[in-house]
Amino acid sequence: MKNIVILISGGGSNMAAIARTAQRDGWRKAYDAQVAAVISNRPDAKGLALARESLIATEVVDHTAFDSREAFDAELAAVIDRRNPSLVVLAGFMRILTPGFVERYRGRLLNIHPSLLPAFPGLHTHQRALDAGCKVGGATVHQVTSDLDHGPILEQAVVPVLPGDTAETLAARVLTQEHLIYPQTIARLLPTL
Ligand code: GAR
Repeated sequence: MKNIVILISGGGSNMAAIARTAQRDGWRKAYDAQVAAVISNRPDAKGLALARESLIATEVVDHTAFDSREAFDAELAAVIDRRNPSLVVLAGFMRILTPGFVERYRGRLLNIHPSLLPAFPGLHTHQRALDAGCKVGGATVHQVTSDLDHGPILEQAVVPVLPGDTAETLAARVLTQEHLIYPQTIARLLPTL
């Protein structure tokens, strides 16, 4: 069985979209794959409840309990590895990962970022796109490398910036596309794993 482990920090809407697609499209039969666990670095992440509703195992590795990134990443990797993962999927996971962690999962570590990379890596992407006068925004699914938000691009979705957009309205428009391209990209990768 190809186990997919999803890491979240917040709302978990991308995680839920992946779990929903896996269920709807029968990834178990089609690819011998399943969402094996959802792990959050925040005990209060709303996405944990969503995962439990979908009967997906959840774990919390609270980053505030560790005094270094290395110690947190070591425990995170131990919890992930118990699930024997074929794919580790960052879905709104808001922690910078150490090079050692990234290397451990090289080639099977994905992220979604709410901009058209390489434009606007980092935080506050939508406000920065609006401030720059961009006519389009979007999202990028990419392989994770130790260069933050710069790994090889696997998929992108583009949305228009509309008159009167705020960071919130643009984020919501981009998010609906994230919910499509992230599951699609994973489904495309699964046969190759
Ligand atoms: C998504 O927009 C995702 O692209 C972004 O956080 C949001 C999480 O939403 N990720 C990053 O900014 C990573 N740098 P969700 O928890 O509802 O999936």
